[in-house]
Amino acid sequence: MQHTQEAQLTQLPPPEPEALALSRQLLGQIRQAAGADGLLPFDRFMELALYAPGLGYYANGLETFGAAGDFITAPELSPLFGRCLARQTAEVLEAMGGGDVLEFGAGSGRLALDLLAELDRLGQLPRRYCILELSARLRAQQQALLGRQRPDLYPRLNWLERLPEGFCGVMLANEVVDAMPVSRFCLPPPTPAAAPMPPPLEQFVDLRRDAPQLCWRPLTSPGLAEPLTHLTRRYRLAAGYESEINLRAGAWLEALGQSLRRGLLLIIDYGYNGQEFYHPQRRQGSLICHYRHRAHDDPLLWPGLQDISANVDFSALAEAASAAGFDSQAFTSQAYFLLANGIQQLIEPADGPRRVVDLQAVKQLTLPNEMGERFKVLGLGKGLDRLPQGFALRSYAL
Ligand SMILES: C[S@@+](CC[C@H](N)C(=O)[O-])C[C@H]1O[C@@H](n2cnc3c(N)ncnc32)[C@H](O)[C@@H]1O
Repeated sequence: MQHTQEAQLTQLPPPEPEALALSRQLLGQIRQAAGADGLLPFDRFMELALYAPGLGYYANGLETFGAAGDFITAPELSPLFGRCLARQTAEVLEAMGGGDVLEFGAGSGRLALDLLAELDRLGQLPRRYCILELSARLRAQQQALLGRQRPDLYPRLNWLERLPEGFCGVMLANEVVDAMPVSRFCLPPPTPAAAPMPPPLEQFVDLRRDAPQLCWRPLTSPGLAEPLTHLTRRYRLAAGYESEINLRAGAWLEALGQSLRRGLLLIIDYGYNGQEFYHPQRRQGSLICHYRHRAHDDPLLWPGLQDISANVDFSALAEAASAAGFDSQAFTSQAYFLLANGIQQLIEPADGPRRVVDLQAVKQLTLPNEMGERFKVLGLGKGLDRLPQGFALRSYAL
């Protein structure tokens, strides 16, 4: 996700009246979801803010991606991204003697379009290109784009309601894990100084007043206590430390592990390995909100009208994947992955406006201070006998 600038909340352009009405309606639903004490765990708030049917950020009718929306993802930036993913996909499908593609959270449908077009050029079209999309609005958008641009390939497309059984091929998730609801926690300071560290606290949204507020309370979310104890010890988190933990990604990978019989799952997102994610310098976590190309850190602002996301702890994903039956893993930066898949050879060779656009896109996708290092690629394999080519240039520690 590329954003244009860090925002001062006071400088954000105010939403249109209809959008504000929609946000107020969603806030009403969020209030109803709170317990009798008026408190809602942060992950549940994030889930409703993003996915409440008809009202959540990914479920309402407002523009999300691109210039008129709130952020730009790599597939929206340039077709070169999808073409590189297609080259990786082609390599795996060829080694497997064919297979399908399954994309999670396909956004506007741009990645599917670019990927299928390149696979067509390479003579490696999958038997089926499946999309699993939570948002009915985005699904309709994807169907319109693909139907309009590639009616010839449309019969290969399948929008799924649930994970397929015995899937063979390549699964793709670009910027999907960062959009999963996370729990937020803090380690309170000891009182008095010599006492042992008090137990961690969980973040809640307090909905008792007109304006919702964030607050800390003892843990109530099921399954949170044990991984927090583990994290605190493993990364030696100090008193005062605040961060996020994604408790849903484990179940997601478990389900994918059951669905994938043979092939590769590629997870592309912004984030770090566990050591860097829970680094002492990142002591307030890494939650990030996007509104009209401004990034800020207030998740309570205009529920349903802004994106809320969290960086990804790739070590946690890799561990969950091993437990879920994936038998190989590889990890690198987006820059190395795209370079290893030949992004440079895809740049328009002839001088002219197209070459200028391609060169600019390659910079944005690969330079370390743009998306090149902030974004990582985790490859999780099952039954593959060689390292996928995208990881051949350089591998990062998990
Ligand atoms: C930031 S958007 C990225 C869209 C697109 N992949 C792109 O790169 O432009 C996040 C997408 O993930 C989807 N999503 C979140 N959790 C998901 C899940 N468990 N399964 C499938 N899609 C999911 C959302 O509905 C949304 O379409």
